[in-house]
Amino acid sequence: MCGIAGYIGPGDAGSIVHQGLQNLEYRGYDSVGIALASDDVTVSKTEGEVNELTVPQTENPSTGIGHTRWSTHGEPTTKNAHPHTDCTGDVAVVHNGIIENYDDLKSELRESHIFESDTDTEVIPHLIETHLADDVSLLTAVQRTTQELEGSYAIAVTAAGHDGVVVVREDSPLLLGHSDDATYIGSDATAFIEHTDRVTYLESGDLAHLTDDDVTIYNDGEEVERDTETLDWDADAAGKGGYDHYMLKEIHEQPPALRQAISGRINELATSVDLDVDLPEAYLQSVEEIQIIACGTSYHAGLYAAELLEEHADVRVSVEIASEYTFNGGRDPWRTLVLAITQSGETADTLSALREAKRSGARTLALTNTLGSTVTREADDTVFIRAGPEIGVAATKTFVSQVATVTLLTVYLGQVRDSISTENASELLSSVRDLPGAVQQVLDQEQAIKETAQAYADSDSFFYIGRDAGHPVALESALKLKEISYDHAEGFPAGELKHGPLALVTPNTPVIALLTEQTRPEKTLNNVKEVKSRGAPVIGVSSDPATTSHVDTTFDIPQCGPMEPVVANVALQLFAYYIANEKDRSIDKPRNLAKSVTVE
Ligand code: F6R
Repeated sequence: MCGIAGYIGPGDAGSIVHQGLQNLEYRGYDSVGIALASDDVTVSKTEGEVNELTVPQTENPSTGIGHTRWSTHGEPTTKNAHPHTDCTGDVAVVHNGIIENYDDLKSELRESHIFESDTDTEVIPHLIETHLADDVSLLTAVQRTTQELEGSYAIAVTAAGHDGVVVVREDSPLLLGHSDDATYIGSDATAFIEHTDRVTYLESGDLAHLTDDDVTIYNDGEEVERDTETLDWDADAAGKGGYDHYMLKEIHEQPPALRQAISGRINELATSVDLDVDLPEAYLQSVEEIQIIACGTSYHAGLYAAELLEEHADVRVSVEIASEYTFNGGRDPWRTLVLAITQSGETADTLSALREAKRSGARTLALTNTLGSTVTREADDTVFIRAGPEIGVAATKTFVSQVATVTLLTVYLGQVRDSISTENASELLSSVRDLPGAVQQVLDQEQAIKETAQAYADSDSFFYIGRDAGHPVALESALKLKEISYDHAEGFPAGELKHGPLALVTPNTPVIALLTEQTRPEKTLNNVKEVKSRGAPVIGVSSDPATTSHVDTTFDIPQCGPMEPVVANVALQLFAYYIANEKDRSIDKPRNLAKSVTVE
């Protein structure tokens, strides 16, 4: 977790890095700091959010590094905030990741070094200090230091009396941005997107030396060339665009995000899909099992994908929470495709499961939103969901884009494997094509959904029920509500309610029932009756007017075929948003959470 921003160039390094940290705050926001270097290194840090930080005051700082933290080792206090320095205060380091052997390193260093924080990071400036004492360059000192570190890290280092900044990437993400007269550093491109769209993604093991007029990259001691790419993001896409919260903006961005996800991928007649999958067709035809690995919202997209793939691609599918994944013996790795679904492409649990799958010999495919992310480098092949940057911690537009893209993947695999009928393929593809318009129709009912949310905001707890594709949507909608409102919310397969959870249902526990196509509404209506007879108010999410008389309130979903449950999810995103808003919660940055979870 955590975000790194940095700058070297003729501009005001302090304010540029501060702005970069503000853009990156969704990666962590419990403490923050900046180091500026001119002749000396000056550090300012604080617990709390980026706007609470006073930028250090130095004359003509041309170099700055900064960090916004999500705590792993040590509490979120000022002393544990980055940058960390050595005994002299001349070396400043920001770090994202975990140094696994920091305890051993600390014990060795302790005889001659004083440590001030509880973090794993602090060993890094002290190690650099010991190497600089041998009168070597900062680059060499950092290179020697990294040879002693175990774990995953992205670090940026600046030191008094030494030219520029040295950065290192070992697993954790780090990239450089280039403008005509300056170089930027970021954990992702949002750190500097308003200044440049020209970027270099560092590879794992890269170490780069950034000076006023040059960037030199090394790997394994040798100088290497890395490509510079141009991003198709713009600065506006990363702003709030007039909405009160990024989450609300991103909910409203779903129609264009979906159009972008499907653009150029469905042929005119809605009969075939072009997804740029490079895995050989002969291999895809031979696959016997697809294992989906993912976390949180992406896991729910995985459950949705499993419903589609089993039905249309004639393949056994298992969906596993990535942190619980093990590749058990007995399954044939050569006939197993592991599909890693991850918006950020950086979730440590998912990457670790992916690595295990690869070690076992399975082929891997990533479904991600993030160009150049670690998953794209490690998986055998990647399909992008093309949703654009998502800043709100709660995933919204990326969930619907994941489901839309995985539906295209289902049709693609079904056709390669000759297991999907032309009729089914065309029904799925037409439904995906209708998604942006259907989602817009739900967004147009925002005021009514808001009023319902306000009416229910004082409830004790919320239950979401659904069958088939309604089940993952029930889980996802409950997750959304709990993470941003802090209310208790749970999702269930509708039939499961009576096997235990029904005991919790009272007149103060609203039940939200998915009653759209693809969710077997006629059966779920039996469960609606069960909860209503216990006094629970019921909100139905439905495209069928006949269900209205069975529930207290209905969120109307336009008829759009098999994708209706995804459209229902959009109504429930708004419902969650307005409950959280009513309670004045920190919607974009819910407590204890961060956007990109790069620790296991
Ligand atoms: C919830 C949410 C998280 C993420 C999870 C996986 O709104 O966003 O549950 O879905 O942390 O993240 P990615 O998809 O980046 O691997």
